[in-house]
Amino acid sequence: MRTQVGIVGAGPAGLLLAHLLHREGIESVVLEDRSREYVEHRVRAGVLEQGSVDLLAAAGVGERLQREGLVHHGIWLRFDGENHRIPLTELSGGRSITVYGQQEVVKDLIAARLAADLPLLFEAEAIGVDAGSGTIRYRHAGDERELECDVVAGCDGFHGVCRDALGTVVRPFTREYPFAWLGVLAEVAPASDELIYAWNERGFALHSMRTPEISRLYLQCRPDEDLAEWPEERIWSELQLRLGLDESFRGAILEQAVSPMRSFVVEPMQSERLFLAGDAAHIVPPTGAKGMNLALADVAVLARALVGRFRDGDGDGLTAYSETCLRRVWRAEHFSWWMTSMLHVGADADEFDRRLQLSQLRYVTSSRAAATSLAENYVGLETV
Ligand code: FAD
Ligand code: DHB
Repeated sequence: MRTQVGIVGAGPAGLLLAHLLHREGIESVVLEDRSREYVEHRVRAGVLEQGSVDLLAAAGVGERLQREGLVHHGIWLRFDGENHRIPLTELSGGRSITVYGQQEVVKDLIAARLAADLPLLFEAEAIGVDAGSGTIRYRHAGDERELECDVVAGCDGFHGVCRDALGTVVRPFTREYPFAWLGVLAEVAPASDELIYAWNERGFALHSMRTPEISRLYLQCRPDEDLAEWPEERIWSELQLRLGLDESFRGAILEQAVSPMRSFVVEPMQSERLFLAGDAAHIVPPTGAKGMNLALADVAVLARALVGRFRDGDGDGLTAYSETCLRRVWRAEHFSWWMTSMLHVGADADEFDRRLQLSQLRYVTSSRAAATSLAENYVGLETV
């Protein structure tokens, strides 16, 4: 099989890239290791920056997002028993965020791909990529096959195979954190109409939501946390305590999982015919709500560059791809690291650390300049 662009991975990055290319008359084949059912139900991110919403709408896949997404104009920071609002829209020149589950974005993009009757192979695992020739070896329906491509887009997430195919010329940058998030999806009406990011001596907590009936909640925990030590009773009492909510805030838990936290960037994000996008090239800790937004922004840049190459014979966009993306990526890396450091309590944190964090939180919630910096990073900067 041959195609112009071989795309590995049907997460937000791979699916949006395929869609953007189709709109420009460029053909692609998407290979996804998992089943459709699995990728459509994987509970992950929930916050879309204004730029991501605009991008999806302009690409013609924003109809349900604009109907069902919850538009927010602020977030709450909670510490020392007090709630302080950061008025995002007021401080960012009118921009806002939209809460809409990542799996809903994925469902919308899969529906668009299938409606156009274009190749999207589920349970097709890439097992080897050759950056020089643009060949992807993959396993599908019991057979081993090859896909010959002019360009390969590695959109296969942090644990995919494409990054290894960049070879040894690339440089990785990593930071591990000594904590993780216990994420919970629960059948309980949100206790707040905006997100609450809470600092607490016992650890960070985050209150988000999906619908007026479903809440999405996170608790800081250990990276090696055993879920068996978190019976429902403990989850609810810890959430109530850290978020400052009363005992009525509880409901049926629909899903729970522990996610590790790390920062990671590989430079450059490209070698020969292979271009990485999204989590395959970079990871941020989730506190800044940036991962999915970065994935979508990368493929917007890549799609534009591929149009230049295939339609106009101009390869400049592809040459600049990595550098263009990395400017945004490093801004998000810094913001995500900063939010994480301000809000999480390390196991070996002492009184000095706690006082620094509280001072930073007081500053961010009392200085318009500091709050503006948080707001413009949170809603998403144009390329910096
Ligand atoms: P993925 O979504 O990981 O997609 C990669 C795809 O490639 C997968 O479907 C995988 O099955 C497939 N694949 C892997 N290997 C192969 C192979 N060998 N062959 C074929 N297919 C393969 N981001 C935000 O922006 N906002 C948030 O609020 C937010 N919150 C988060 C909360 C949590 C708990 C977590 C875990 C993440 C959060 N993120 C958030 C991050 C966000 O989910 C990721 O950044 C996003 O999924 C990246 O998209 P992607 O398309 O690059 O990768
Ligand atoms: C959600 C996830 C995040 O990582 C975050 O910072 C805010 C909200 C969410 O899943 O809703």
